[in-house]
Amino acid sequence: MLALSPFTPVQLDAQVIRRLAERVAKGALELPVLPEAASKVVQLCNDPTVDLAQIAAVVSRDASLAGNLMRLANSTLYGGTNPLVSLDQVLARLGVAKVREMALIISCQGKVFKVAGHENLVKAQFRHCLATALFAQEIARSRRWNVEEAFLCGLLHDIGRPVLLQEVVEGCAMFGIPFDPAAADAAISALHARVGGEMVRHWKLPVRLAEVVQFHHDPMKATTARNQAMMTALADDLAHLLLAGPKQVAEDSIREHPLLGDLNIYPDELAALIAFGPKAKATVEAMG
Ligand SMILES: [Fe+2]
Ligand SMILES: [Fe+2]
Repeated sequence: MLALSPFTPVQLDAQVIRRLAERVAKGALELPVLPEAASKVVQLCNDPTVDLAQIAAVVSRDASLAGNLMRLANSTLYGGTNPLVSLDQVLARLGVAKVREMALIISCQGKVFKVAGHENLVKAQFRHCLATALFAQEIARSRRWNVEEAFLCGLLHDIGRPVLLQEVVEGCAMFGIPFDPAAADAAISALHARVGGEMVRHWKLPVRLAEVVQFHHDPMKATTARNQAMMTALADDLAHLLLAGPKQVAEDSIREHPLLGDLNIYPDELAALIAFGPKAKATVEAMG
């Protein structure tokens, strides 16, 4: 959130904070890897000369990825009026950029982010990221920017959060301290953008994307993708307006959002973005 609402920090135990800060500073966090097949698909999709048969070959060797791709391709998010019944059809109809997007969604929804005992929180974070991705895509469409890149900016912007949550849970267990969600959130909020940027680099995704993730709470620090960082910051707040939760923002705050001027978004365009909310919510809900 871009300092839209007053935030009262609750301190996490000093030992847990120290351990977390040291591990982040030393680069000692265990950053989750993408599942092998998803990682190969993402790499192939980054190559502009790739042909669809190469992607199909990788996907078809992994039954779980293939099944999830088929499911997602026919979901509210991607499905058209006619069902897609084969992998070749999915690839031909949706194209390389959408397949990369789907591989990342499947990875984020699947094993990459599992924090035992905190499933509901992680699920809420995923829903928030998906809503942010949908709003980012709408902003990009209205600015005539790349919509696929926008979707990934939103999807991945808070990717550092579940990794840090896992670290805080482990730290609390190590020092025998009860887990306090509000205190954990304050510590995670302070570090997640940096850790998220590292993860995007670690996954060998485009560097522009890593910059957006790293600076989504401080977009003026972005140098190569400042527009996309600002877009993601606004999409993040629109997603907080849409979905109830502890970080929910008021519509009045969105109407006075400090980035509207820099993004050149006029009141009627903002009204259209807010009006897109119910559609975004229905999509998020359909995705589980
Ligand atoms: Fe964030
Ligand atoms: Fe966020």
